[in-house]
Amino acid sequence: MTYYDQVKEAADAVTARVGGGELPSTAVVLGSGLGDFASSLEPGVSMPYDALPHWPASRVVGHEGRLVVGTARGRTVAALAGRCHLYEGHDLRTVTFSIRVLGLLGVKILILTNAAGGVNTGFAQGALMVIDDHINLMGQNPLVGPNDDRLGARFPDMTEVYSTRLRRIADQAGRELGRPLPHGVYAALLGPSYETPAEIRYLRTIGVDAVGMSTVPEAIVARHMGIEVLAVSCISNMAAGVLPQPLDHAEVMETTRRVRGQFIALLEGIIGRL
Ligand code: HPA
Repeated sequence: MTYYDQVKEAADAVTARVGGGELPSTAVVLGSGLGDFASSLEPGVSMPYDALPHWPASRVVGHEGRLVVGTARGRTVAALAGRCHLYEGHDLRTVTFSIRVLGLLGVKILILTNAAGGVNTGFAQGALMVIDDHINLMGQNPLVGPNDDRLGARFPDMTEVYSTRLRRIADQAGRELGRPLPHGVYAALLGPSYETPAEIRYLRTIGVDAVGMSTVPEAIVARHMGIEVLAVSCISNMAAGVLPQPLDHAEVMETTRRVRGQFIALLEGIIGRL
């Protein structure tokens, strides 16, 4: 079975589960500790990833593993609670399988969220950063291999991965919450080890504001399919060497838990303005 056929089968399974209901035109990928948004959708058809054909499972603590289709602010939205990562040993086609399914379902707007380390020392822990652009330092690209023209063009343009229109909407939603959002450049690294202080100094030198281990492959694939993308990072910790303390995943989880109410309010504000 081809990759395209697998994606199609998964999309058909989602369509069947949604029944006669409206299919989503907007989707949100929820990063570490941010899965709660999925529960806030109404009425919500919830599909565990392992109940969907070919859908890869993520085993990272803090990632749930389900797709929920429901409404937020009157819009039909798909929420993905949990994603899989390159560092888990999946290849990038597997990592971006869910985005392909969303594209086939007819999703036109994709909101990606993640937890990231703050490289820009002007950021506070818990800040929500709008991604203006990215630097792919994973050493891989999800579009490597034969191109399936049904999914997109061989050499897709990446001049405006993160939609100017959607970034403005995010700014308006942030202001409405009394929380103006910083913007910045996100670098994706393979992980799973965190960076060294020297790597963080290097990243700062090349213009990076936040660093993480996800999002970029999904954004590339979404643009390949012509989906409009917005991405927001929760600065869950200051990157290595910024503060005189080691990094750990528990800190990442604790910060995302602390700000998740605000993050959900921001997502709802954004969706309400689409
Ligand atoms: N580095 C890389 N990925 C991350 C970090 C970090 O400091 N925090 C959360 N995800």
